[in-house]
Amino acid sequence: MKVSTIIGARPQFIKAATVSRAISEYNKKNPVNIIEEIIIHTGQHYDDGMSAVFFRELEIPVPKYNLEVGSGQHGWQTGRMLAAIEKILLVEKPDWVVIYGDTNSTLAGALAAAKLHIRIAHVEAGLRSFNRRMPEEINRVISDQLSELLLCPSPSSMNNLAAEGIAEGIVMIGDVMADALQFAAHKAEAVSNILSLLQLRPREYLLATVHRAENTDEKERLDNILSAFAALNETVVFPVHPRTRKLIEKEQYHPENVRMIDPLGYFDIVALEKSARLLLTDSGGMQKEAYWLEVPCITLRDETEWIETWKLGWNILAGADRGRIIEAVRSFRVPSDHPQLYGDGNAARYCVDALVENS
Ligand code: UD1
Ligand code: UDP
Repeated sequence: MKVSTIIGARPQFIKAATVSRAISEYNKKNPVNIIEEIIIHTGQHYDDGMSAVFFRELEIPVPKYNLEVGSGQHGWQTGRMLAAIEKILLVEKPDWVVIYGDTNSTLAGALAAAKLHIRIAHVEAGLRSFNRRMPEEINRVISDQLSELLLCPSPSSMNNLAAEGIAEGIVMIGDVMADALQFAAHKAEAVSNILSLLQLRPREYLLATVHRAENTDEKERLDNILSAFAALNETVVFPVHPRTRKLIEKEQYHPENVRMIDPLGYFDIVALEKSARLLLTDSGGMQKEAYWLEVPCITLRDETEWIETWKLGWNILAGADRGRIIEAVRSFRVPSDHPQLYGDGNAARYCVDALVENS
């Protein structure tokens, strides 16, 4: 069996690493019937700290193709990817195209494969914010409609698909990001020296990330968030996404308590997450990592796809409202209940099993 993995953005490298690992484990056990994985990197993310670092750390096989598409408007970026992926799929003729999450790389992969009648497996299917102003929501809805195998992380994501009339091919595997975190959590302690490098003590700092389009494209929202960080009486460690960095550089923003640093590799960010008193983020992945690591999370958005973390009280939605953010940091009460969410850490193996069983 031949699968083409399509990835391009930071969280996709982390997710796909788990499935590549599961594929090589499968191949060791099934030397006669191996799965050949062809990785296509769209080049959506390209800085060393946004891309190559994850291939090094997580030992992801070298992509056979790098499309080097780079940054641009949605239509331009997705269109360039679509044309380039189509060419490759025509040559490689895979049995499956495997796509991850909800980025423009996901959508381009789905469109290219669907038009060539190549079966699509969507890892992290069924997530919804119900906000069509988010580019990711459009990417998800279309990718799910085009996929034959919908690999869901949670019962609520399965329900979302059912509500959209998708009746077949839905398989609950859990979240491959749980696998990624389990792989990294103990390794991070051995490998990362980020706490000592930044002279931080456990639980004596907050960790923040901001990159979502709604928070960066709207100046008022970004200003409110940055102003809230500056008003906190605690150290805020802030690895800044390049998208956000470009905007902040235009401002005079140098509060004493906010430590802006470059984006981090996976082991360093996990080490920082683990020891943070609290996370402030608009990242999808980091909301779940906070939950799994039992660290309180304040989400800088008005809605979340990971509703279970919010329902259980581990995640507060504060939007981009300065007052709500400050109040949430001050008054967060850690819930006593912490049930297992989003799988058992073997989602990548279940993903490979589903690909094999449905071939
Ligand atoms: C993308 C995804 C988002 C995901 C995020 C993960 C879409 C529509 N959005 O958002 O869902 O949560 O990745 O981080 O696919 N840039 C660099 N260097 C890089 C990459 C980006 O400087 O290596 C800058 C460029 O100015 C670029 C901007 O960041 O224009 C935004 O990058 P882009 O990939 O378009 O969107 P993200 O905000 O990263
Ligand atoms: N992450 C990282 N370095 C950073 C910030 C985040 O490795 O400096 C990891 C984070 O731990 C999570 C993933 O990147 O595993 C989330 O990616 P991002 O927030 O860019 O995208 P989203 O999850 O919102 O799509």
